[in-house]
Amino acid sequence: MLRQIFYCSVAEPPDGEPDVAGILEHSRRNNPALGLTGMLTYADGVFAQILEGDTTSLDIVLEVIRADPRHSDVRILSDRMATRRLFSDWSMLHVDLDAAEDRPLTDMTVAVSRSPTPDGIDRLIRALAYRAVNEVIDTA
Ligand SMILES: Cc1cc2nc3c(=O)[nH]c(=O)nc-3n(C[C@H](O)[C@H](O)[C@H](O)COP(=O)(O)O)c2cc1C
Repeated sequence: MLRQIFYCSVAEPPDGEPDVAGILEHSRRNNPALGLTGMLTYADGVFAQILEGDTTSLDIVLEVIRADPRHSDVRILSDRMATRRLFSDWSMLHVDLDAAEDRPLTDMTVAVSRSPTPDGIDRLIRALAYRAVNEVIDTA
């Protein structure tokens, strides 16, 4: 059975540069063997990640991720079974929100991570998945 998890966390240290490159390197090295796919983004001090895979593999990687000192306050905002993967081609797609046009999505990510509501979480997952398509086109 396929499971999809969405979580947000607070990047540590709060005023430092996030180690996105290092995290992507780890993810892309480890996730294929676990059959995990997903996306990662960083927005104004907040990490947001979608992870897809089987239940056991997700439990394993989540335990490792939770213990990572590069972030804190890992909060699972959505944990559900899915019928298909959104990110089947990516062991970890990086959605880079640095561009000015991504400001609304950055603000939405921070707002939902601070005050999650079921509707806000659902809209954010959809917006990130939609934005991820542009990332794929831009980097193709
Ligand atoms: C926000 C965030 C997301 C991460 N996502 C993953 C991931 O998807 N897969 C993974 O293996 N490690 C991920 N990591 C890194 C792990 O916490 C850990 O550093 C890594 O798995 C250790 O890999 P190693 O045993 O090969 O050194 C993430 C870390 C952070 C802070």
